[in-house]
Amino acid sequence: MSQDLAKRKAAEAALRYVVQGEMLGVGTGSTVNHFIDLLAERHFDIAAAVSSSEASTERLRAHGFKVIDLNAAGPLSVYVDGADESNHQLQLIKGGGAALTREKIIAGASAVFVCIADESKLVDTLGAFPLPVEVLPMARSFVARELVKLGGEPVLRANVITDNGNPIIDVRGLRITDPRALETAINTIPGVVTVGLFAHRPADRLILGSPSGVREVVA
Ligand code: A5P
Repeated sequence: MSQDLAKRKAAEAALRYVVQGEMLGVGTGSTVNHFIDLLAERHFDIAAAVSSSEASTERLRAHGFKVIDLNAAGPLSVYVDGADESNHQLQLIKGGGAALTREKIIAGASAVFVCIADESKLVDTLGAFPLPVEVLPMARSFVARELVKLGGEPVLRANVITDNGNPIIDVRGLRITDPRALETAINTIPGVVTVGLFAHRPADRLILGSPSGVREVVA
């Protein structure tokens, strides 16, 4: 419950980055759900949203917001999304909600990426949270063997298929001391669609919520 309150506080603090009348990138997860609900409760008037998942699209539309395809939107000024872990450089692990590929695309297309999370998500070294990797179905076993060579313990996420129709491998046992190098190494395994390591495109702002308030971290 207090973690949920912390998420809501972080989401509330991100509202100040929303520009009325403009398009907005919106991510996925329980923290972003608070953000979407707050946009509606506070009567924000955005031109349209670009969403990173079917779940967020549905929630946005249920509140009456227009959702458009990224191709129709062009570059975005602001993207608000959660994370599973962040280090102090605002490099992230994302994909606990299986939306990593669309999240990485929208983050890449946005000028400012505002990450919202409860304070437990800030860590010194990434990797305690299993690293999600979305793969093409036929490459699942091959990619898993390659991930073992990189020092990880891959586990296929049970009963999960992404919005893009692909399985996810969660990689445990990694202590990620060079996030950029690992992101590049995993990205170059044939069959990998996306690794949920956001090191080459980290967040620009991290808003950490706690039950008593928020603090903002800038890399
Ligand atoms: C979705 O795929 C993820 O990247 C989420 O942004 C991440 O799992 C954070 O989720 P919560 O806000 O539910 O903690």
